[in-house]
Amino acid sequence: MSLVDLRALPRHVAIIMDGNGRWAQRQGFLRTLGHREGSESVRRIVRASRRLGLDALTLYAFSEQNWERPQLEVDALMHLLEDFLVSERDELIERGIRLRTIGRRHRLPARVRGVLEGVMQDTEHLDRMTLTLALSYGGQEEIADAAREIARQAAAGALDPERVDVRSFGNVLPSMEVGPVDLLVRTSGELRISNFLLWATAYAELHFTERLWPEFTEADLYDAIAAYQMRDRRFGRIASAATGERPPAAAPVASGVHV
Ligand code: FPP
Repeated sequence: MSLVDLRALPRHVAIIMDGNGRWAQRQGFLRTLGHREGSESVRRIVRASRRLGLDALTLYAFSEQNWERPQLEVDALMHLLEDFLVSERDELIERGIRLRTIGRRHRLPARVRGVLEGVMQDTEHLDRMTLTLALSYGGQEEIADAAREIARQAAAGALDPERVDVRSFGNVLPSMEVGPVDLLVRTSGELRISNFLLWATAYAELHFTERLWPEFTEADLYDAIAAYQMRDRRFGRIASAATGERPPAAAPVASGVHV
């Protein structure tokens, strides 16, 4: 177990859940079995995040580019998503977790969309943690969609182009509704962002682990958070040590809490 300082948790953690296919293939299984194990990791990590007290967890469950995978694999992923929603609904409510999505939800099969929208409605009043599933999501697509909407409003005379700045642009991005990402984790050893939350991760701390997503445990999440707590987040300013100020996120201390 890692030593995590509960007073200096990242507010918003985002995860690129990678390596399901390789996990399955390494054991001679079909790739879809890797996704099934991957959805068990989702259950584990949602629970652990809530227990820790994170405000927001965003998971990259299906990218806009994943539609290009073989139909069998896409179908399997949609089934797993539906199973997850049906089986976790009550627990999400019990634990006070609000479910939302980002991405082009209209592209999902009607049946999955129906279940998804039902769970979103049933949990919209909950506020202990927000779980965001990125589904048919692409960071570039999200930014392009927002730019198009802003251009449309400006062309219609409803918006002064001079008023478009970092803050107002961020406000129209669905991914920013839960605030910027503090910690971005990617499993499976790949060192890429892969079109995930391009805007919201501007100042995120990045954590890459060799662990494949199906084998990612609570302990791995705690390790990622403990590593985050060792960082000096400068946001373009100079090191806090040089100013004598306290760093924004306190480093783990001996009195930290074991979780
Ligand atoms: C990447 O691994 C993972 C995905 C494209 C899908 C992630 C889906 C799940 C974890 C399960 C279903 C989701 C929910 C919310 C229940 P990969 O297939 O690209 O792995 P590889 O790089 O080893 O091939």
